[in-house]
Amino acid sequence: MLFDRHQRPLQDLRISVTDRCNFRCTYCMPLDQYDWIARAQILSYEEIDRLVGIFAPLGVRKLRITGGEPLLRKDLEELVGMLAAIDGIEDLCLTTNGSLLAETAEALQRAGLNRVTVSIDSFDRATFARIAQRDRVASVFAGIAAAKEAGLAPIKLNTVVERGVNDHEILDLLDYAIEQGFEIRFIEYMDVGNVNQWTSDKLLSKREILERIAVRHDFQPLRGRGSAPSQRYRLSGGQGTFGVIASVTEPFCGACTRARLTADGRLVTCLFSTYGHDLKSMLRSGASDAELRARIKSIWTGRTDRYSEQRLAAISSTDGYDPEAVHKLEMISLGG
Ligand code: GTP
Ligand code: 5AD
Ligand code: SF4
Ligand code: SF4
Repeated sequence: MLFDRHQRPLQDLRISVTDRCNFRCTYCMPLDQYDWIARAQILSYEEIDRLVGIFAPLGVRKLRITGGEPLLRKDLEELVGMLAAIDGIEDLCLTTNGSLLAETAEALQRAGLNRVTVSIDSFDRATFARIAQRDRVASVFAGIAAAKEAGLAPIKLNTVVERGVNDHEILDLLDYAIEQGFEIRFIEYMDVGNVNQWTSDKLLSKREILERIAVRHDFQPLRGRGSAPSQRYRLSGGQGTFGVIASVTEPFCGACTRARLTADGRLVTCLFSTYGHDLKSMLRSGASDAELRARIKSIWTGRTDRYSEQRLAAISSTDGYDPEAVHKLEMISLGG
């Protein structure tokens, strides 16, 4: 295993296969004009496969395919098949907006995908369209149904909660998840990237989210969270579980074992990083596996990131916190 400067092992790799998306979520990428990655710079499936073959022996056990919207990438099941065959990979998942899952779920499952996490922020057509800036709520629910049918379980749902926008739907979304047997996770609105105009008043804290749920449900926290971002809760009466991802008010950097690979082959050591380490140039200039391994090792062993903890300290300090102070990479190039 490979440890960083805070003794955190490298265990998870989140692979962005494209920075394109068919939605324009206000909390992620509201802009139509953006400096998108040029096609020639995007890693091929063979290049991704080769890199993961180097990451796995260093300790990576869990892979998550992300975007942008990963299902916009052609023939994604081919990559899934390649990654599923790599020794040491125990969990192969996909995070998607769900809009293209109805057509792809079965093929992905057959290729070796274990499970999916789908983003869903509202049931209501107008609210959904306000957030995603696309009138596509029906296609997302069709996609979730197809994933269930294909057996891509346990299915998880991600809901970014924004005060005054969708916070009134927390209980309804939870009821839907319970009824369907899915685990929903309510996510605190984060200041990731620079284009989403984050302000602290848009944030509904974990404490407030739990207060809303407690009006209708009894629940107990589950222990043994490991390195997961989500604090999970068990609902009484065997109704299932739900989670809250509180990266703003209760950061979890101390146990962060995640690395991210951008679609153009940069290794990013924190969701709030300002840059990524270029591996693509090495791949394309004939570097050996040993050279790539040495580069990855040196990046991870030098890692000191703990942005969310530092942000909380700044928010609590007299100086306050300025989300625009540094130019962070955008969420759409990191896939969450
Ligand atoms: P599973 O529990 O295995 O399903 O994985 P996960 O919880 O990592 O799932 P997912 O990729 O859906 O992550 C959920 C959300 O948590 C992401 O979209 C981010 O918003 C947030 N998140 C995930 N990892 C990190 C992290 O390392 N730091 C911060 N600050 N937020 C994270
Ligand atoms: N705050 C919190 N979560 C976010 N996501 C995207 N942008 C933000 C943000 N600003 C989440 C989406 C999706 C995942 C990939 O990242 O809900 O589920
Ligand atoms: Fe929304 Fe996900 Fe697309 Fe970002 S990548 S705009 S969160 S659907
Ligand atoms: Fe990991 Fe950075 Fe998120 Fe902290 S802020 S949990 S170091 S990705």
